[in-house]
Amino acid sequence: MTLEFTDRVERVSPSATLAISNQASALESEGIDVVDLSVGEPDFDTPENIKDAARTALAAGETGYTPSPGIPELREAIAEKLRADGLDHSAEEVMVTPGGKQALYEVFQTLVDGGDEVALVDPAWVSYEAMTKLAGGSLTRVDTTPYGFRLEPALDDLQTTVSDETELLVVNSPGNPHGMVYTDDALRGVRDLAVEHDITVISDEIYQRVIYDGREMTSLGSLPGMGDRTVTLNGFSKAYAMTGWRLGYFAGPAELVEQAGTVHGHSVSCATNFVQHAGVEALRNTDETVTEMTAAFERRRDMLVAELADRGVEVPTPEGAFYLMLPVDDDDQAWCETAIGEAHVATVPGSAFGTPGYARISYANSTERLKEALDRLDERGLLGAGA
Ligand SMILES: Cc1ncc(COP(=O)(O)O)c(C=O)c1O
Repeated sequence: MTLEFTDRVERVSPSATLAISNQASALESEGIDVVDLSVGEPDFDTPENIKDAARTALAAGETGYTPSPGIPELREAIAEKLRADGLDHSAEEVMVTPGGKQALYEVFQTLVDGGDEVALVDPAWVSYEAMTKLAGGSLTRVDTTPYGFRLEPALDDLQTTVSDETELLVVNSPGNPHGMVYTDDALRGVRDLAVEHDITVISDEIYQRVIYDGREMTSLGSLPGMGDRTVTLNGFSKAYAMTGWRLGYFAGPAELVEQAGTVHGHSVSCATNFVQHAGVEALRNTDETVTEMTAAFERRRDMLVAELADRGVEVPTPEGAFYLMLPVDDDDQAWCETAIGEAHVATVPGSAFGTPGYARISYANSTERLKEALDRLDERGLLGAGA
């Protein structure tokens, strides 16, 4: 029998990040020591108080379906957190999902129709493109690479890219894969464009808590004029080292949350019951541990940027998240293949994020392993643009 696949799934490529980490796992299963800098995952275990909350919920029998948009305690805790960020959302305007990815998927499915235009800011996280294509939308992209991944100098380019045809604009700060934190001026520029062209903006703030140098970030939806046109996306994976728990959320206008509830209800029903209880604990009682984990990422960032400079490689210093864009060959795909095949260092090609000529390094790894990776790349002459 011949299986016929839909056009929409055939338009989408598998996740480049997952493909590389699968290759790393395959090499490791052959007994090869790979330094895996490809995965976007904290290398810390989930804080103990969060695990305890999950155990307590399990022991109390919290194992059935929950209300589809989430348990009231968690939706309220999220609304409280958002209020502290200057976002005025009630608990009813929050949808709890199995991971931030699912939250994004539901928003794309609800807002993007066949032929609708979605604007991305490159380099952009790999799944935005896939989600646009799965919804049948088309893409316009603005590249911030010439500006060291800063959005503000790219606002003029964005101005010429978006139009009244643009349905959705996605911004992500601190950003994956570059780690930049957008300035308030940049966000105000986004606001002005969104209002002028009547665009809904997804503000992906999943790395909000992983931010360095005492910086504070502004939540886009808190800007005047953005409250009713921003969908704020966040989750527990990165801030609380809870990637495998699959817990995320989005908040936005009540009618969007209600409409997206149909996609949610028919696809996942609800996020896992006892995991949601753990989420309440994460939001309410984990500040100190989050601060410690972020401080560790910041020390690694400092070490990596300094080590690279010592080896003659200058990179835009990341201001948050745990990624760094390393300038490599124009053919970044081939560079990454050599890096994993010969140096046994796994990275992700920049072209997967719309930015050829770079490789994304995740520094959610120990200082020793990061140094080991640099040594291996250096020994094989792989460090530095054009290497
Ligand atoms: C920018 C960005 N947004 C959203 C997500 C989704 O994360 P999760 O589904 O684990 O919550 C990720 C994960 O890598 C990400 O990098």
